[in-house]
Amino acid sequence: MKKKEISTKACTCSIIGTGSHMPERVMTNDDLAKIVDTSDEWITTRTGIRSRRIAAEGEATSDLASAAARNALEMAGVKPDELDLIIVATVTPDMFFPSTACVVQKKIGAKNAVGFDISAACSGFLFALQTARHYLNGGPRKTALVIGAEKLSSLINWQDRNTCVLFGDGAGAVVLRSDDSGVVQGQVLSSVMGSDGSQTDLLKVPGGGSFLPVTPENVASRPNTIHMEGRETFKHAVTRMCQASEQALKDAGLTTDDVTLVIPHQANARILAVMADRLGIAAERMFINLDKYGNTSAATIPVALDEANRGGLIKRGDVLLLVAFGGGLTWASAVIRW
Ligand code: ACO
Repeated sequence: MKKKEISTKACTCSIIGTGSHMPERVMTNDDLAKIVDTSDEWITTRTGIRSRRIAAEGEATSDLASAAARNALEMAGVKPDELDLIIVATVTPDMFFPSTACVVQKKIGAKNAVGFDISAACSGFLFALQTARHYLNGGPRKTALVIGAEKLSSLINWQDRNTCVLFGDGAGAVVLRSDDSGVVQGQVLSSVMGSDGSQTDLLKVPGGGSFLPVTPENVASRPNTIHMEGRETFKHAVTRMCQASEQALKDAGLTTDDVTLVIPHQANARILAVMADRLGIAAERMFINLDKYGNTSAATIPVALDEANRGGLIKRGDVLLLVAFGGGLTWASAVIRW
């Protein structure tokens, strides 16, 4: 049976600002090789990752998110009290509650906004972007801040070489505005979201929630860290990212030839290479910063979008394809005309 996916066609929301913030501390593959049985050679050839950023002690997801948000607001020329909505996509919230969005609201002084979090692992930012578009199109709210922010170092088992080499910390944000002036930039033309709950076991943090609270008896098995079946996840990632890309392009009435730049979720360079090959997209049209930051889950796409934007790689009228895959399983894509 064909998997039901929700796709949404054009509306008049514009991305009017992008921002990102990465923690200062750089952890290289050689640094990791000092604490776990691995090597720069293995990590680089199997994943494409050379280093990742690690948040400082006491630096929470909301701190990274707030810094990224301020950068995006500055570019957009929007004051915090003009925001109507804040959505934070994260799997590493500051706390179970209040939401990280509410903490960000306090930190940036967005006193007129309503805020909440979204959990969709690495697809979280695109889920949040899509949710924000629906809010802006369906009601009186005009301006939204959509953030992807993670402190994955707080979920890493530094003794597990299968996972600890893959992840990093960071945050990215966009300011989204619904506009009836007819002046549209950074417009989402189409988007796709999907999930497959039959595969929840492939990629998870099993403990620390209501299912398996961490207790003195089980703490040694580190249930509150990332557990992943890498090979199986890899296969799903390629299939779902290709399908989601093709569907969003079809919904926008475009083909891969129309795409100026692909901004994919960055978990593994080999996933991106296979994906580019299957979609028939040349490597130069894939924006990749995985080598510097590793997999930053929900932060990956907004960080990459901001780097491409500030780096002058995107011009007005360009077509961007954003595509993500993550735990859940979840996947999502969006086609944007800049
Ligand atoms: N250093 C050295 N050796 C290692 C390391 C390491 N860091 N990690 C694993 N190995 C070893 C394994 O123990 C294994 O050894 P063995 O053959 O003696 O048993 C060997 O390398 C091969 O292990 P595999 O797991 O088969 O390696 P693979 O080539 O599949 O690469 C990886 C693993 C990088 C995890 C890959 O499977 C992958 O990228 N999977 C997809 C990840 C992904 O897409 N995640 C989705 C988003 S994440 C999110 O939602 C939060």
